[in-house]
Amino acid sequence: MPRDPFDWIDARAEDRRRAGLVRTLRPRPAESRLLDLASNDYLGLARHPEVTDAAARAAVRWGAGSTGSRLVTGTTELHAELEAELAAFCGFEAALVFATGYAANLAAVTALSAPGSLIVSDAANHASLIDGCRLARAETVVVPHRDPGAFHKALDGHGGFALAVTDSVFSVDGDAAPLSQLAAVCAESGAALLVDDAHGLGVLGDGGRGALAAAGLSGAPGVVCTVTLSKSLGSQGGAVLGPARVIEHLVNSARTFIFDTGLAPASAAGALAALRLLRGEPGRAARARAVARELHRRLTAAGLDSAAPDACVLSVRAPQPQAAVRWAADCRAAGIAVGCFRPPSVPDGISRLRLSARADMTESEITEACEVIIRTAPEGSR
Ligand SMILES: Cc1ncc(COP(=O)(O)O)c(C=O)c1O
Repeated sequence: MPRDPFDWIDARAEDRRRAGLVRTLRPRPAESRLLDLASNDYLGLARHPEVTDAAARAAVRWGAGSTGSRLVTGTTELHAELEAELAAFCGFEAALVFATGYAANLAAVTALSAPGSLIVSDAANHASLIDGCRLARAETVVVPHRDPGAFHKALDGHGGFALAVTDSVFSVDGDAAPLSQLAAVCAESGAALLVDDAHGLGVLGDGGRGALAAAGLSGAPGVVCTVTLSKSLGSQGGAVLGPARVIEHLVNSARTFIFDTGLAPASAAGALAALRLLRGEPGRAARARAVARELHRRLTAAGLDSAAPDACVLSVRAPQPQAAVRWAADCRAAGIAVGCFRPPSVPDGISRLRLSARADMTESEITEACEVIIRTAPEGSR
């Protein structure tokens, strides 16, 4: 009898089970009784009536899908409006919207590098940037986390086009990249700087204009930014922001732009409505950061191990993967939804609870969340 060609999968599954690394899906009911510290809905806009109404109206008006790739039928007037307003809000010349932030990152890294060019990438960058480096047929040097000196060393003396790539706020620990220093290193060596501001848009900078605005780098020559519409803006999709000629180059060469169906009109309209809310209510960004700081203050006062958050992402160390999974399950049983990051999602192999602060969390929700996380903390987490 011939062997089943997928038998090898069982051995992998058994290894995962033994290491406590099995992942499972938990379909979320529409009305959850859980207090949410697991999503990326930092500004609490995913269910804001202006956002959901805009999305619903767009689906009725434009259709459930965008009907084609952006260069064929998948660009609606909504996409153009969103691109113009996003670029203006964040302080860039132009923007290009993609179906996901993942696709935006693949596009930016691959289209802005070529054989013979050099990519220098922070070791803790998001998987989508890492995959972009893998797909780009360029030399990639991975440098230690948040180390401008290492970027400088890697870029020094390279004669051709070079691209330095970093998250603005790293998605595992929530720490921020040293953007001003990286920009100085890039300017000195003639390299371009690509910053993934997935966790900075809506949270950092004046009124949530993002990490590059906070560093005075939006619209700077040689700087390109990617964002997602799926976190602070409560919708779906992604975008690349930068000089107009870079955006035009992406339209003509980025494979995840050309060969992918355009973002659904409902998602474009939802993101646009959220962006307008953010512009009209700039206090949301500061409130989200204040909630993150308060969660951190209370958890570390109880002896838990968590780095100070630079935006809305907080991670709390757990002793082992199994303990992290149990901790997250105990929190859930007590009414608090938290994330749980384990290898291989974490570059350093350290398991963590991953918490996200939301601008719309009340005082009593903060108290309840901290009380549960502290009470259920496993042995060895302090
Ligand atoms: C830093 C970072 N970049 C990019 C992405 C991908 O964005 P999207 O979910 O819109 O594909 C994520 C997470 O989802 C992220 O955390």
